[in-house]
Order: sequence, then C-alpha cells, then structure tokens
Amino acid sequence: MMTDIHSGNIPAASDIPETSRVPASDGAKIFKKTRDDFPILKRKIYGKPLIYLDNAATSQKPFSVIQAIQTYYENSNANIHRGVHHLAEEATSAYEAVRKKTAAFIHAKDHHSILFTRNCTEAINLAAFSWGRKFLKPGDEILLTEMEHHSNLIPWHFLKNEKGIELKFIPFNEEGILNLSKLPELLSSRTKLVSLTHISNSLGTINPIKQIIEAAHEKGALVLIDGAQSVPHLPVDVQDLNCDFLAFSSHKMLGPTGVGILYGKLELLEAMDPFMGGGEMIREVWLDHSTYSKPPWKYEAGTPNIADTIGFGAALDYLNQTGMKEIQKQEEELTRFALQRFSAEKEIKVYGPQNFKIHAGIISFNLEGIHPHDVGTILDQEGIAIRAGHHCTQPLMRKLGVSGTARASFYFYNTKEEVELLLQSIQKVFQIFHHAAAR
Ligand SMILES: Cc1ncc(COP(=O)(O)O)c(C=O)c1O
Repeated sequence: MMTDIHSGNIPAASDIPETSRVPASDGAKIFKKTRDDFPILKRKIYGKPLIYLDNAATSQKPFSVIQAIQTYYENSNANIHRGVHHLAEEATSAYEAVRKKTAAFIHAKDHHSILFTRNCTEAINLAAFSWGRKFLKPGDEILLTEMEHHSNLIPWHFLKNEKGIELKFIPFNEEGILNLSKLPELLSSRTKLVSLTHISNSLGTINPIKQIIEAAHEKGALVLIDGAQSVPHLPVDVQDLNCDFLAFSSHKMLGPTGVGILYGKLELLEAMDPFMGGGEMIREVWLDHSTYSKPPWKYEAGTPNIADTIGFGAALDYLNQTGMKEIQKQEEELTRFALQRFSAEKEIKVYGPQNFKIHAGIISFNLEGIHPHDVGTILDQEGIAIRAGHHCTQPLMRKLGVSGTARASFYFYNTKEEVELLLQSIQKVFQIFHHAAAR
C-alpha cells in the first residue's frame, strides 16, 4: 500500500532539515548564458530557485520567442492570405517563412509538406482522419506499440470503431525496449500503417525507428512517427528516415502553445481528403459543392494561429543557433549522469533502458511505498517541478503494474547540479515518509 500524504499525519517539509543547495560548477557557468535567455528560470517557488524538470510536458520559452509574438502584435498584426494591404502581406510572408524554416529544420524536401495544426495531438488526428477515413477498409491493420501516448492511440480507436480495422501492438520488454523480434509476425500485407513514438514520454526509450520504417515499407505499409519527444531534442531528418508522416508540437521545443506540425509526403497530402472545411482551404465553392486548395492550405481551414506560429519561427532560430547536435550531446551527458546517480539509490525504481544511448532525458521513477503524486507535491515545496501520474500512457502503466510514476524530464538548459538537488530532495521525501511511518 502506498502512503497517502493527504490522509496521514505527515510532518511539514519545514520540520525536516533544510536541503543544502549545491554550489554551481563550471558546467553550470557554461550554461548560465543559455539559462539567462529564459526569464522564467530566474523565478523562485516557495522562496527557492525554480528547478524545472517537466520539459516533456512543455518546455520553457526564451526571450526571443516571447518578443517575436509581442513584435508581431505591435507591428504586423493582420489576417493572412486574404488581404491586399501591406500588413496582410507582411503577416502572410512572416507566417509562410516559418513553414519554410520548419521544412528546413526536419530536412523536408518541400515546404508544402508542412501542415500547421494546434498541437501534435491534432496533427495525428489529422492523419488518421484524412488518410485513414479515405484509404482504410475493414480487415486492414494498423501496427502501434504498447508505449504510445494516448494521442497516438485514441485516433486509431476511432478508426477501429468506424472502419472495422484491427490494431496490433509491438510489445516492450522489462527494460522498456521494443521487442522487434515480433515484427515479422506483426507485419503483413494487411498492415497499412505503422504509427509509433520516436521517444517514449513515459520510459524515455529511444526507438530504432529507421529499422522499423524499413521493415514496414518492405511490407508496403506507411509509417507515422510521433516526434513529440524527439524533434525538440535531437536532429530529425525526414528524408533520411523516409517516414511518411511526422507529428510534433511547438510548445515542447521552446515555442508557444497552440502550434502543432504534421509533415507528410506530398503525394499523400495531395491524395488525402481535407480535415476541416471552411475558409482558406478551398479553390471554388458553389452552394452545393466545393473544390479544394492544394496542400498545405487544403488542411488549414480558417484563420490559423498566426502570432504563435511566428513565435515558433523564433524558437526554431534559437534551436538552430544552439545546434541540435549540441543539444543532443548536452542532454545525453545529463541523462548518463542522472541514470548513474539514480541507479545507485536502492530505494528508487527507475523505468526504461539503462543504456543512456537509447534513453532520452526522461527519468521515470517510483519511490518504494510512496505515491508519485506525493513525491511531486513534496518536490514542489523544494521548488522542483516534475510530473506525476500516468503521463497519458495508461496501457503502458498497466503493463508496468503501477498507477503512475514520477517523471523528471530535461532540456538543454538543465544542469547536473539540478539533478543533484533533485536527488537530495528525493532523500527529503524518504525522510518525511519514514518519519511518518515511525510515528
Ligand atoms: C509522445 C507524445 N505524443 C504526443 C503528445 C501530445 O502532444 P500535445 O499535447 O502537444 O498534442 C505528447 C505530449 O506529451 C507526447 O509526449
């Protein structure tokens, strides 16, 4: 039985000796400049410096992104694509420039392959709705994995109910690694699509997507990659991967909320049906029928999120200037350090691969006998923001036999000192609960 902090006589955090803060090392100094770019990282929470370790949920935003949105509203605000006046043209070219920047960022051949949505969830729903509804028939199969976020599960449930398709799943092992020896029996000529996450948001596992894409293509199946947790953290090249769709969110990669991206191969986007009907996605409209515009505009009905898309452009500039390889290297080092330090603690159960080369900067863990929400609540009192719960992966949690985990997730602005402080504060959680148990 896990102890519930809300029901027991638990001493307040202030009853426990104060955690000593680790002095900044050279590593922290190197990243000081980067951290200075993020105003929120200067915040104090309950009088303690914020340690933000919830980047898998959403990342923080640098000044340049915040400023780009403000500058847009101060100088260029107008509706796009439809105006003939100067501001409308300025706003249209700023918005369309971000489409080109996004294409370059993921090495897409053609910027018409980039569709803007509200978030990664909507991007996956768009693919399921516009491709799946048109091309799937009863008996067709879609192959997913057991580690998918609900965003890459529920849209396929809809299609299963509506079209009579079947869903199959690549299992993962005790280490949270996909069991690819099952692929030959799971993939067949009935498989029309393989849809999987590049990096698990609950386990941190980096999946060997290139190998899976090749195997799927050999059977004639398309592949959708959920890049929500990978595109922000490592270089992704859609031409090299040869994936058919890639979905991700701006807000997890320094950009604003309200902008998602679906990359699709152009021939697919041309063949698929629109997602929503309305202004801007049409060619000609009569009272009783209509014809549609070309991709990407065919999929962008109504006024889009212009300001935040422009903010996303500033995020891409920031990531390009920092360098995705540099970001990957920094996070790999932080993850190596965190995995080593966490595995030295016997009372902490860490999920996901032990090898940092296939484990992204997402450390999912449980403390023996303590509910993850309690872990999150006590860490919060220390100024440490982590996530606790099922992380929108209930089937995965069911397989692990837990209701949830505590999850610390990094970005390149995090430091080893913050990982050390997290571990010190975890000791404090143990002290609080052991103290309570002894009473
Ligand atoms: C792997 C994965 N896929 C999809 C999503 C959904 O992203 P969004 O909420 O931005 O649509 C998330 C969000 O955490 C995620 O981690």
